[in-house]
Amino acid sequence: MKFITVNSYEELSKKAADIIAAQVILKPNCVLGLATGSSPVGTYKNLIKKVENGEISFKDVTSVNLDEYVGLSGSHDQSYRYFMNDNLFDHVDIDKAKTHVPNGCAADLVKEGEEYDNLVKALGGIDLQLLGIGLDGHIGFNEPDDCFTGPTHPVTLDPSTIEANARFFASKDDVPKSAITMGMMSIMQAKRILLVANGKAKLDILKKSMEGPITPEVPASILQLHPDVTVIYSEN
Ligand code: GLP
Repeated sequence: MKFITVNSYEELSKKAADIIAAQVILKPNCVLGLATGSSPVGTYKNLIKKVENGEISFKDVTSVNLDEYVGLSGSHDQSYRYFMNDNLFDHVDIDKAKTHVPNGCAADLVKEGEEYDNLVKALGGIDLQLLGIGLDGHIGFNEPDDCFTGPTHPVTLDPSTIEANARFFASKDDVPKSAITMGMMSIMQAKRILLVANGKAKLDILKKSMEGPITPEVPASILQLHPDVTVIYSEN
């Protein structure tokens, strides 16, 4: 695992965007695994700039997102589909038909998970997976648990995650209690992983994830088993 510490969120966002841009330049038809949350917003802003100045094109890129809230349709402004359109897809030359987010409104979420994994498989897997990390060590919405879960699956959100994400909703009660998330299989099978984290509050869980025991109680600790992980951290 490569750990890069930078001095500001701006620097983190620039570095992360440079790595993603390099991936797109080297393989224009790559599959990018994308993430939501506040951490990657600056990365997406930098990627938009790179498209605007002609440095890269998303024309042939396919994207697969990590997760989605259960019950929120793509038109809900807190759904992750909406987030992705708003923060990236609407501003770059990506073909929207090639952008994928799990459907949190599917009648059968287990089946939706199976279909999502089949899609990732059919695409040939993920070339570069971007991740954030939750304060409890979750990646995607893989919450601390008794065992690691492989496939894309529905999850009940931890009270601490609901608390952390309440800042985006009118009230804590509005935060969905469940989600559908890519499991560890597609994440760990990604050829390369890039994790971005900022703020002092994340340092402790980052250390536990990178140096502590590999345990489903700290979901991100599984990344120690991946051969190509880069973590970019900024205290600010
Ligand atoms: C959310 C997302 C994760 C994200 C995490 C951290 O719950 N499901 O994919 O990494 O929380 O979010 P933030 O970057 O806002 O701290």
